[in-house]
Amino acid sequence: MLRVLTTLIAALIVLSFATTALAEDYQYIGAYKCFMCHKKDKSGNQMQNWLDGPHSKAYETLASEESHAIAKEMGLGDPQKADECLKCHVTDHDAPASAYDDRFKAKDKSDDHFVDGVGCEACHGPGSEYKSMKAMKDITAGELDGATVGLWTPDEALCVSCHNEESPTFKGFDLEEYMAEIAHPIPADYLAEKYGK
Ligand code: HEC
Ligand code: HEC
Ligand code: HEC
Ligand code: HEC
Repeated sequence: MLRVLTTLIAALIVLSFATTALAEDYQYIGAYKCFMCHKKDKSGNQMQNWLDGPHSKAYETLASEESHAIAKEMGLGDPQKADECLKCHVTDHDAPASAYDDRFKAKDKSDDHFVDGVGCEACHGPGSEYKSMKAMKDITAGELDGATVGLWTPDEALCVSCHNEESPTFKGFDLEEYMAEIAHPIPADYLAEKYGK
């Protein structure tokens, strides 16, 4: 019995080390860092699309009168401090502090990651490894599998992890319509010219 227990405890310790290592493999760097390379019109200006879209304002929204009314109704305090709201209105709210790069910069160049709201990395994954020019180009050229450097493939499951009935203002979720509303592709002519795609 004691041996089984010791083995179990040892296994748990190994497991917890393994998950810690995993969690720190990739860190969040902030939307501001992505802006550096994603603000050119010819390659799709993903920065402007996001700034003009709903996700960059998701944290600000929690300061609105409407948010305060919803929170009050639910018996919560300040919505910008409530886990019950932050879980869908900022990037990976459950992540430990160690998941953020020391040099994290938000869209206002501060180090407050809440400011990004639902940032680029909420959908594309923590960018510390894939953010390099070489990795990024190799991924787009099809020479590197993005998953090996932490780049996610955003799909419907990711969207509905926030767009669901748990949202106090839920309006439904139509994949095609919602994807179109936030679309920020790299233009086809640019891909053809630069990557021969
Ligand atoms: C981390 C949570 C989260 C994820 C993941 C997420 N969203 Fe959102 N989305 C939000 C929040 C919060 C808002 C509301 C922002 C606001 O109004 O302040 C929103 C708003 C939107 C809106 C505007 C809806 C409206 O009527 O106001 C669209 C469109 C949208 N999201 C599409 C998507 C798509 C497509 C995906 C998946 C690729 C996605 N979202 C993934 C949290 C998320
Ligand atoms: C709400 C989720 C969401 C957010 C936030 C978001 N993206 Fe995206 N992004 C997507 C989805 C979904 C696609 C389409 C993926 C596909 O076609 O496979 C995409 C596509 C892209 C592409 C083009 C890929 C291609 O092959 O054309 C780039 C570049 C990109 N995003 C960069 C960014 C940057 C930079 C930011 C922040 C400024 C950002 N994204 C914010 C979900 C998001
Ligand atoms: C050092 C510059 C640089 C930085 C920083 C950078 N990217 Fe990129 N990214 C690129 C380049 C270059 C491409 C290839 C397309 C092109 O030529 O514009 C690319 C492509 C992408 C693609 C498309 C991948 C595919 O499947 O084709 C996504 C998604 C993306 N970037 C997201 C991000 C996000 C999110 C961040 C911030 C966490 C970020 N990038 C930071 C330069 C950068
Ligand atoms: C399960 C994820 C989720 C949670 C939890 C959540 N929200 Fe949201 N919130 C969203 C999404 C997604 C949207 C976009 C509209 C929708 O619900 O379809 C949104 C939109 C909003 C809006 C804008 C509504 C509009 O007019 O478009 C307000 C205000 C808001 N949320 C406040 C809150 C407050 C306050 C809390 C905490 C009590 C909260 N949310 C918790 C996901 C969530």
